Amino acid sequence: MSESETLYHRVGGEAGVHDLIGTFYQRVFADPELRPFFEGIELEKLERMQREFFAAALDGPSLYTGRPIAEAHYGLGIQPKHLRRYLDHLLATLESTGLSEDDVYGIMDRISRIADEITGTTSVDG
Ligand code: HEM
Repeated sequence: MSESETLYHRVGGEAGVHDLIGTFYQRVFADPELRPFFEGIELEKLERMQREFFAAALDGPSLYTGRPIAEAHYGLGIQPKHLRRYLDHLLATLESTGLSEDDVYGIMDRISRIADEITGTTSVDG
């Protein structure tokens, strides 16, 4: 796959991922059911980790330097209903970007694939 064909480039590269995560987290933090999970969290670092994670997940050049996803969410009490809302906000964000439907669902597919790790249905050790 040439670089111009990656989802990362179609999202708009580094600047595109930056805008995407910014918009996505504005929606997440404005949701009264999700906001409490992020109280007391260092948001600047969280968004940086998210940008890295998304860039890597979309075949971008960035290397993810955060904790393993299962470990970062372990014990937070995130239930499937929270995950669903979170992913709904992601879908709404992606749909507002002007990406093609194929790309929107391609991204959703990649991010949803690790969903089991968020709600603790897999162990920290994998
Ligand atoms: C597929 C969905 C998700 C992905 C890809 C994801 C990704 C991430 C990443 C990359 C980090 C940074 C880890 C680090 O700092 O080392 C993180 C942290 C965090 N996520 Fe998620 N997340 C998802 C779902 C959720 C949901 C549904 C919630 C809550 C409703 C949530 C709440 C948090 C919180 C509170 C942190 C900060 C934990 C801390 O710093 O102690 N995440 N997430």
